[in-house]
Amino acid sequence: DSARKGGFDHYMQKEIYEEPDVFYRTFNSEIDPDFISELKSAEEICVIACGTSYNAGLLFRYLMEMHCDTPVRVEVASECRFFRPRRGSVVIAVTQSGETADTIAALNMAKAFGCTTAAVTNVVGSSVTRVVDYSLCTRAGPEISVAATKSYTAQVAVFMSVLRELCNGSIKEDLDEIHKVIEDALLVDVSEGAEMCAGASDIFYVGRGLYYPVSLEGALKIKEITYIHAEGYAAGELKHGPISLLCEETPIVAVCTMDVSYPVMLSNIKEMKARGAPVIAVGTEGDEDLDDVADVCIYVKKSTPLGEMLAVIVVLQMLAYQSAVILGRDIDKPRNLAKSVTVI
Ligand code: AGP
Repeated sequence: DSARKGGFDHYMQKEIYEEPDVFYRTFNSEIDPDFISELKSAEEICVIACGTSYNAGLLFRYLMEMHCDTPVRVEVASECRFFRPRRGSVVIAVTQSGETADTIAALNMAKAFGCTTAAVTNVVGSSVTRVVDYSLCTRAGPEISVAATKSYTAQVAVFMSVLRELCNGSIKEDLDEIHKVIEDALLVDVSEGAEMCAGASDIFYVGRGLYYPVSLEGALKIKEITYIHAEGYAAGELKHGPISLLCEETPIVAVCTMDVSYPVMLSNIKEMKARGAPVIAVGTEGDEDLDDVADVCIYVKKSTPLGEMLAVIVVLQMLAYQSAVILGRDIDKPRNLAKSVTVI
């Protein structure tokens, strides 16, 4: 077992370190041009998924909204029976295992409504691939750790390559070397943040725009493997309820890179601090203002907006991982969780 971990302490850690290659391989894989044509003529794209895969789908919605006109809906697969897909929709199931019962059930319903279907999956030949019209494979290789890391980054890579095919003209940044930001992110020191998280019973993860779904995933990751209660929130929603929970014992992980949301995120952080909450800010290297408002700053290297987003994804995975190490958890096999959920 230790040989298969390749010198790493846990599969999760090994799998995080594989992400630069996984992203590169997946992002540069060809996508069926017929599928891209289907998307171009779709009235709507509907993404269905569970858990981490849902969070990747939600990120796709934000990316599409920023760069393309086609509307994207994202539904939790187990709730799909209450939201009929529209005729003319392309339905994309996102499922690392390709075996998730809720996702396959929702997909079958979409097929019955005559929708074009596709799956983003890490397992060639899995059940989902036998149901759909198009398969988009993530190139993550086998993921042993129950908590998804490299498979999530690979799902994001698929969606970014779909985006590149669909709306190339509107993406202004150079994506050829973007995987290198992940290599840089692996060098970021998250230890001080992990100490703070490991000592907490409740944590809020907040961000705006792309960093809302990224925060949802950060919170899901830490709760899965540390058993600490963590909630991802759109930063602007905090004041509509959860702010009543803020105190010295509830750290906030606030993603505050220097993107369009920067000024308002900075003022959100000040509001949280004013309620006594310790803040772990994830920001852009070179930002000196963040040091003045946050208790702990974790910086990713300055890059393009999509590059910094990928770096933040990896940093939040490492934050979860290191917090779980401090707590001595069974990281690769957290209690009550299975790698694929094949019951409804
Ligand atoms: C990920 O860390 C989780 N174990 C879980 O949320 C998972 O993403 C979910 O069960 C969906 O699985 P799938 O991608 O295989 O469909």
